[in-house]
Parts: sequence; C-alpha cells; structure tokens
Amino acid sequence: MKKTIVLMVLGLFAFAPAVLSQKNIDPKEIREKMQWFADAKLGIFIHAGIYAVNGIDESWSFHNRKISYADYMKQLQGFTLKKYDPAYWAALIQESGARYAVITTKHHDGVAMYDTRLSDLSIVKKTPAKRDMIKPFFEELRKRNIKCGAYYSLIDWSDANYPGFLNDSGRYLVAKDYDRWNRFRNFFQGQIKEINTLFTPDLWWFDGDWEHSAEEWEAQKVRSIILSGNPKAIINGRLQGYGDYETPEQNFPVSRPAFNWWELCMTSNDNWGFHHDNNWKTPYELITIFVDAVANGGNLLLDMGPKEDGTIPEEQINILKELGAWNKKNGEAIFNTIGGLPHGHFYGPSTLSKDSTTLYLFLHGKVNGPVMIKGLRNKVEEITVVGNGTKLQSKVVGKISWSPIPGLVYIDVPESVADKYVTVLKVKLDKPVSLYGGHGGLN
Ligand code: GLC
Repeated sequence: MKKTIVLMVLGLFAFAPAVLSQKNIDPKEIREKMQWFADAKLGIFIHAGIYAVNGIDESWSFHNRKISYADYMKQLQGFTLKKYDPAYWAALIQESGARYAVITTKHHDGVAMYDTRLSDLSIVKKTPAKRDMIKPFFEELRKRNIKCGAYYSLIDWSDANYPGFLNDSGRYLVAKDYDRWNRFRNFFQGQIKEINTLFTPDLWWFDGDWEHSAEEWEAQKVRSIILSGNPKAIINGRLQGYGDYETPEQNFPVSRPAFNWWELCMTSNDNWGFHHDNNWKTPYELITIFVDAVANGGNLLLDMGPKEDGTIPEEQINILKELGAWNKKNGEAIFNTIGGLPHGHFYGPSTLSKDSTTLYLFLHGKVNGPVMIKGLRNKVEEITVVGNGTKLQSKVVGKISWSPIPGLVYIDVPESVADKYVTVLKVKLDKPVSLYGGHGGLN
C-alpha cells in the first residue's frame, strides 16, 4: 500500500523541473522542524513601511526613479502608527485561520521597523511613530499560538556601503572594493543576529538574494548564524540555495514546485504595501487559490499592506474574515492534511488526511450534478459534506467483474449542500488510498 502512495508522489514530481533551487539543503535533515509549516497552510504577510505614507511602491519607487530618493525619505515624517493595535492585528490573523504571520523588519529601502542599534535609519529614530512595531506584534501573535516570521531584505539601497542604489546607477562594484563590501556584510549580518536575539523569529523570510551570489552574501554563514541561536528556525528559499522551502511569487505554479515544501506569496490587490489600488481579489478567488496551493502540497502567504497610522484597509479586513469563516467550516479538509490526488483522478483540487484514508474533494463555485473519481481502487465507506454533515450516495460505474481495473465513482451532490465559495466532500476510504493510473484495457 505504501508503495502505491510513494509511486503516486513520484508521479507528481515527474512534472517538476529537475533542478532544485534549495540545492544545499537535505530535506531529510529538516523534515522535523518543517512539520508545523507543512501543517499550517495559511500565513499572513505584512508589508509595513514608510511607503504607505504616499501609497507608493515599497522601495522600488525610488530605485526605479518614480520618485527621488530625497522625496521618498520625506515619508519618514508622515509615518505615525498612531492607531497601531497589534492585538487587533493578531486577533484578525487568528480569525482568518492563519497559523503564521510574516512582517517586514526591513525592506530594500533600509528602514528598520524596529530599534536597530546598528543604524539610525529606523522608524524608532526617524519617524513620529518613535516605536518598534515588531516586538508588540510578535507578543500578541505568540499569545494566540501563531508562529512569527521576520521578513528581512538582504538588499539595502540606503546603506552607504551597499553597492546597489538606483536601477541605473550603483555605488561601486564588489570586486573593486572588497573592504567596503565587507563593511556592509558585517552590518547586515549584525542586524540578522540582532533580530534573532531580540525577537527569535520562528521563520526568516529573506528577500533580494538575487543581487549577489551565495559566496558574496556568505549565505551558508548566514544560515548558521540563525540556526546556532535558534536551531528550529525555518528559512525561506531566498538565500541563494540555503533556504528550507520554495517561494513562488504571485504567479501560481501549474505543476508542483520541486522541493518538498513551498509557499505561494500573493498580494490581495496588486501591491504589497498600502496603495491606492482597488483591484482587490475576491474572497472566492482567494479561497480557490488557497485550496489549490494546499492541494498541491503548498502554503499560501497572503499579503496585507497597512496604512501609515497602523490601520488595515476595510477590504483587506473583509477578505480575512471571509477566509476565516470558510476555514472555520471547512478547515478539517485543509489544516494538517497532505496534498491530494495527482492530476487526472479528479477534476478539481483534493487533499488527504495524513494517513491517506480520508480524501477531501473541493468543488468550486456552483454545485451541479454528480462528480466523479477515476482509478480509485479503494472501497468508499462513507461520503459527507464537510461543515454540514449531510451524507451523500455514490455509485461505481463500469466495473468489469473479471478486470482488476477499478470502475468510476460517481457522487451525487445536491445543490442544497453548496457552500458560498467552495464545497468540500469528505470521502472515507476502507484503507490508505490506492490508485490505478494505467491506460485501461486489460491491465
Ligand atoms: C519582491 C519584491 C519585494 C516584495 C517581495 C514579496 O521580491 O522585491 O518588494 O516585498 O517580492 O515577496
């Protein structure tokens, strides 16, 4: 039986690209610490920064010369956090069903969102907010058993010793001034140690590794700095091959990412930080995206961009609440599950209980008529609608008495059981799932 499941998993990986980008990490060695992440499924990303003052692109706006650096930095004066309520943020995140949150401790603009001792450029020293955002937020998350993630940009376009600055003009080349690069390295690695000591993040979310190589960042050393102080910390895949999981961004993967663990990070409108942007994704869209990620063995890290005063846009609050209500009803099919059936067995996303004896089928949008499972060798013991308990009938069609090939399982789904967004069926099997994936005919 186990073999069937192994083959099933291998079948899924066959579509994936051959090169793993986390090339330096052995999945066997990190499996244990990754368990909470694999079970968590939903995280909330928070892009908090001075860019919310004007509602412009985080850091990129000056880098891409949409605004001068001096004008960008004027936003420091408008960042107040005067209505910042970390307890409300944490409660809202909890209500959404998310089990972890990741907040910007420093974006590419170099503005630290906590009281760094290694630079003056922080919201504590340079803005009317005069306070650290991170500590009180992590405290509120931890009270609610939500894991705490620190986003940290390796790129720092404000630091005088960082080579890059604007998209068409940098400060210097690493190869030409290694001492200067070394000064920057001491600085950013110092901030990493500082954050590790001050906040002990459960997860590190690096960004911007593409500007330098693993050797230049000393990625392996950065990894060991974190793990020596905090051995269970999880590190995202943006550390030039030294991270623990893949991070596809915005674009939904059609085939499964190759590495064991992955997380899709996505905005709830078209921007990471607060913007005057009304292109909100609907709760239906986000729930179907979320379900798809989970069915493919991944997580969703859904972003929100708070305003400079610390309030969260109404539309974003609504998205999190709708997601929460759906999770409350259907969470059994999501949290602590594993990815579902390989393509071809069911025309929709699915997940499995960890022991693979319960299969969850997700039906998007309107429910009309029967659904079908192909190549299921198991006997179906019971089918219920998650969150309302209605029992459904199934029928096996086309099973030939003398053939070992399973028939098709048709399940009747009346419209009356439909969820507002995505309906979930719970299919209890006689034993761990066993699939037939052949070409039909005699074997
Ligand atoms: C990109 C952008 C950055 C954003 C991040 C979130 O890497 O550089 O602005 O914070 O994506 O995933």
